[in-house]
Amino acid sequence: MLKGKKIVLGVTGSIAAYKAALLVRLLVKEGAEVQVVMTPSAKEFITPLTLSTLSGKPVLCDFFNSGSGAWNSHVELGLWADAMIVAPATASTIGKMACGVADNLLVTTYLSMKAPVFIAPAMDLDMFAHPSTQRNLDVLRGYGNNIIEPAAGELASHLCGKGRMEEPDKIVALLKDFFLGSAELCGKKILVTAGPTYEKIDPVRFVGNYSSGKMGFAVAEECARRGADVTIIAGPVSVECDNPRIKRIDVESAREMYDAAMTEFPSCDAAVLSAAVADYRPAVQAGEKIKRKSESMVLELEANPDIAASLGAVKREGQRLVGFALETENGHENALGKLEKKNLDFIVLNSLKDEGAGFACDTNKVTVIDREGSCGYQLKSKKDVAKDIVSHLSKLLLLIVMFLLPFSAKAEGEELNATVTLNASKVQGTNTDVFKQLEESLNEFINNRKWTANTYEEEERIDCNFTFVVNSYANDGSFDCSLMVQATRPVFGSSYTSVLFKYEDKSIKFNYQPFDRLEFVEDNLDNNLTATIAFYVYTIIGMDLDAMGELGGSEFLNKAYTIAGNAQNLGDAGWRAGSSSNNRYTIIDDYMNGAMEPVRKMMYRYHRLGLDAMFKDADGGRKEITEGIRLLKKAYEDRPMAYFTKLFTEYKVDEIVNVYSKCTPEEKKSVVEILSSINPSLSGEWDKITKNNN
Ligand code: PMT
Repeated sequence: MLKGKKIVLGVTGSIAAYKAALLVRLLVKEGAEVQVVMTPSAKEFITPLTLSTLSGKPVLCDFFNSGSGAWNSHVELGLWADAMIVAPATASTIGKMACGVADNLLVTTYLSMKAPVFIAPAMDLDMFAHPSTQRNLDVLRGYGNNIIEPAAGELASHLCGKGRMEEPDKIVALLKDFFLGSAELCGKKILVTAGPTYEKIDPVRFVGNYSSGKMGFAVAEECARRGADVTIIAGPVSVECDNPRIKRIDVESAREMYDAAMTEFPSCDAAVLSAAVADYRPAVQAGEKIKRKSESMVLELEANPDIAASLGAVKREGQRLVGFALETENGHENALGKLEKKNLDFIVLNSLKDEGAGFACDTNKVTVIDREGSCGYQLKSKKDVAKDIVSHLSKLLLLIVMFLLPFSAKAEGEELNATVTLNASKVQGTNTDVFKQLEESLNEFINNRKWTANTYEEEERIDCNFTFVVNSYANDGSFDCSLMVQATRPVFGSSYTSVLFKYEDKSIKFNYQPFDRLEFVEDNLDNNLTATIAFYVYTIIGMDLDAMGELGGSEFLNKAYTIAGNAQNLGDAGWRAGSSSNNRYTIIDDYMNGAMEPVRKMMYRYHRLGLDAMFKDADGGRKEITEGIRLLKKAYEDRPMAYFTKLFTEYKVDEIVNVYSKCTPEEKKSVVEILSSINPSLSGEWDKITKNNN
């Protein structure tokens, strides 16, 4: 995720400067290019030699290179970087950054920075809590910087409290998330209109305006940078999109823009209408070039559709609509009128009376107006104006989530989309009602119980199948069943799914009489059936969360582990600890064993960083999957008897063969070697990777 990313790491004079060495190492290991900039006092805490050796680049400390006299250009660094991290950030540097005191290279670099900035404070607890530090941090937050809150713990002063710089691995994880697009607008779809419209008079002339599209494109880029999927409908402009998350629809006239906007808007969460749409078009478009015939000519115009008002009229609850108002007089009043008339959530007023604002230039000066009031901004670059606008929009979208959730949250379970089937064909001839009853009760029990305190959206629910085969049944209600459990997760950004967990439990013994209520009480296990189901549900939820964030599923995996431990006295061999064959206990014991931590990390690498990325970047995603498979191998080497490692390769075999269908022979060879060492019994399948010449 950080591969190829250019990171400026600012290091300041703090005891925590030693952590900068690890941070550089981790970033470089992730494939990032790191340029370290140190303040003069940082050199008292860690040597530039250490950091330059780790980063592979000379460390910059001074404005000029004392040997050659060359200028260390902070301006170029500001343009070069994809992100800047200041870690550790002392109270002094934070103060200088907040106030723009540019007396060292680090602060000048910060002031020139075009990329997002992350600041990891490190200081004594009282210094951190001091109102001036807090105010400076607020100022920096207000400028759009990301503050990485320090942790609480023992500090260099031997006092305990909040002030320890966040650990380097957490900072790297945060940065990865940022670049992965798990930013605030992730999952949101936003429509932007930009540029002018041209209304044809004849084949060579049109009615138009001076809009360049710069403002709208800046809004689109900012939305995409924050993780949204963006569609931009652009009039005739020469601006290009940078972010691959932006889909572009080019149009010429207001009617074309209207058609595209009306088609796109229903599937969007919000629209930002920055286009300068012609209000009128020639009533007649001449088929041939109009000839000069007399000294004057009258051009009859007719009204174009008002796109903003039309979208405002069909806006659903929860959708947001943002308009612009370009005014030359009575700006505030006119903008408020448009806000109401077009049913907008807020409107961005810019006036041609303000120098450097409006059409074509790279800057703008805007006032954001909504029904509660207004917020005026200084003249700034259109990119920075876009940040302000998108921050307003983002807050509104977040409010919707907060307000709607309590109502949309279902009383019933929402984590799983489970299908339970019970196949009793082996025990035909017995009373079949009991099987139907049990199947219904199981479906209800698994799907309706709320297994976590988390909220799952419909599309996030984990699909799973629980297929019971009744091997024996007696009229006293005693069952012996086998159970096939299979859970799949969606591959984000595609219509594919991926098997998350699949296991066949050979035997579960339990008692069930028609109309028995299936209940599960965590600290009172007395029902082997519900204990088994709860065990699998928590395992699946935990693995899904491991796949979504590194080691993210601990809470639920620990619950599964506890059930497996407490179920020892239920007398079912499926729980028996220390058993040589695989069973429920060995699966969770394998998965949660310290030596198997690489497997848990693999789940994230393989699924979230790998599979989910493959549809945007096939090579990048596949490389992450390979890294995941290497982690699997490490776990296998550390704990060769673990069953889970083999199990994973078994249920993933087809997917893995597919993933490597299109790659170089060297890549195929290397992955086949790893996979064959983990699970040689599948060598015939792994060979398909080499033979597959797609
Ligand atoms: O493109 P640039 O050169 O960077 O310049 C940026 C800009 C000046 C064009 C931009 O900042 C801006 O102000 N855009 C809106 C210009 C405008 O047409 O304002 P308006 O007051 O006429 O329209 C009000 C709102 O209704 C706007 O959101 C507009 O997109 C929308 N509208 C207007 C007419 C119409 N027929 N359909 C619309 O949707």
